[in-house]
Amino acid sequence: MDWLVGFTKGRGMDLKTLTYTSRASLDLGARDLEKIHRTALEFNALDGVTGMLVFNGTRFLQVIEGAETAITDLLARLRRDRRHSAIEVRDERPIKVRSFPGWSMELVRVSASYFEARDSIDDLIPASVDQPVREQLLRMTESISGTVRFES
Ligand SMILES: Cc1cc2nc3c(=O)[nH]c(=O)nc-3n(C[C@H](O)[C@H](O)[C@H](O)COP(=O)(O)O)c2cc1C
Repeated sequence: MDWLVGFTKGRGMDLKTLTYTSRASLDLGARDLEKIHRTALEFNALDGVTGMLVFNGTRFLQVIEGAETAITDLLARLRRDRRHSAIEVRDERPIKVRSFPGWSMELVRVSASYFEARDSIDDLIPASVDQPVREQLLRMTESISGTVRFES
């Protein structure tokens, strides 16, 4: 039911979406990733934040959506977090509806190879994600997988 809290909490507020990429710290292990995911699920359910976290072994791509203040606060916490660096905001805009209403934070692990990454992520993106957003996510997944430069 966590997702429901997130979903209802963002209603009637100014919603926004923000997508960033970052580089995982060199010593980041599987345990750290699990811990990050647990924290994200817990906090996001309380803060009404939803989204998706993609990890390809070395880089993160995360979409966060929620009330404007919740997103600003989360971004500030993310910028202080030493488990990743080189945060680059790729997309930031107001939205009317969420693309990930059912996900407090879905963790998607993809291959570092961009062909495989593209296929695996395409299967996982929920149907609620509009085609342009889906395309953008696929392009960005390719970009963190090292072969394609990101262009917005
Ligand atoms: C790649 C990555 C993604 C994260 N995603 C979230 C998230 O979606 N929500 C969240 O509350 N914290 C997330 N965190 C953890 C935050 O950076 C932060 O540690 C957490 O919100 C607790 O805040 P605090 O460390 O200031 O107490 C993430 C951290 C990393 C490294």
